[in-house]
Amino acid sequence: MTQLKDLESKVQELVTLLEASKQLNSNLEMGEVLESILLQMVQVVGAEAGTLWVLNKDRQKIKAVAAYGASASKILNIELAMGEGIVGKVIGTGEAQLIENVAANPDWANRVDHSSGFVTESMITVPLAVKGNVLGALQLLNKKDIAFFSEQDISLAVALANQSALALHNSQMYDELQRMLLSMIRTLAKVLDARDPYTAGHSERVAKYSLWIAQKLGLDTHDCEELYKAALLHDIGKIGIPDAILRKPGGLTGEEFAAIKQHTVIGADILSNMEPKDAMVPAIRTALSHHERLDGTGYPHGLAGADIPLFARIVGVADAFDAMTTARSYSKGLSFRLGAEELIRCRETLFDGQVVDAFAGILADCDYRLGQYEEQQGRGYKL
Ligand SMILES: [Fe+2]
Repeated sequence: MTQLKDLESKVQELVTLLEASKQLNSNLEMGEVLESILLQMVQVVGAEAGTLWVLNKDRQKIKAVAAYGASASKILNIELAMGEGIVGKVIGTGEAQLIENVAANPDWANRVDHSSGFVTESMITVPLAVKGNVLGALQLLNKKDIAFFSEQDISLAVALANQSALALHNSQMYDELQRMLLSMIRTLAKVLDARDPYTAGHSERVAKYSLWIAQKLGLDTHDCEELYKAALLHDIGKIGIPDAILRKPGGLTGEEFAAIKQHTVIGADILSNMEPKDAMVPAIRTALSHHERLDGTGYPHGLAGADIPLFARIVGVADAFDAMTTARSYSKGLSFRLGAEELIRCRETLFDGQVVDAFAGILADCDYRLGQYEEQQGRGYKL
């Protein structure tokens, strides 16, 4: 009978382990990965509470990035110095620890209990390591119903921790790559804008305005990020336009204007050579169609209405507004208020009405002080 029970609990452990790894590997978003790791661990081992600690990039601080249990909100974001407390020791040595009477342990950083109000009695702390590289530690506090954690609990926690560390590692790499990609796109846009002193910062501003419009329109975070990157690259095709035309101070001949128009097609072509191909689709479409106009008078294809992709309609408005409101060799640039009036005047003829309304709404709400709006946004949203 006991053997059967043992077998049952072993099967249960294995199922949970498999479920956990399946779920963890299918999910790359860092915050969710961490929450998911912790919850699985707490449930499987049967702890009252748990905390997931991650070592920061320069390996100096250990931060509580996920917490479960009665005092979770107070524990979250607590920082320990490298080497501090039992967590610090486990991260330093890479060795799991099972402690039956925490209060009597000399390494115990009781300031965590003090600031959270939680009373820790027994605890398991296991390192999260990939190929010998410790990324953090997982702490499970107070065994439910009975007094102490068992050796079996610790081996289960170690098994789960190995799976979880891999998921954490993948997710950290994924975030790193995303950040790297964005900074490369930004640099590319900056280099492009720097060719002409009058367009310095243009791509960055267009991307910012586009993002604000998208948020106002209620697009989800993923779409907002995609749009932001696409907007940064909208004029990438100008790389293929000779300086003599691009920086010509006076009016353009018909031929020169035809050459400038080509930046849309050239941009789409450049971007369609980048990998992964399907991830580039929003940027390709935006580069190609950001000069299309709602009434079909735009270029390169004379698309009209909803045939123009939404991202291109948004970037088209942001682009026109920035062109109107920044100084050029031939004009001083309109004020933000007059720029908004111009967008409204061309609402539903050149520009998408909803997009214009969203942007004009933002401008009116901040009393045409976009610097102030940016400061408010900065606090609530990071990209
Ligand atoms: Fe353009």
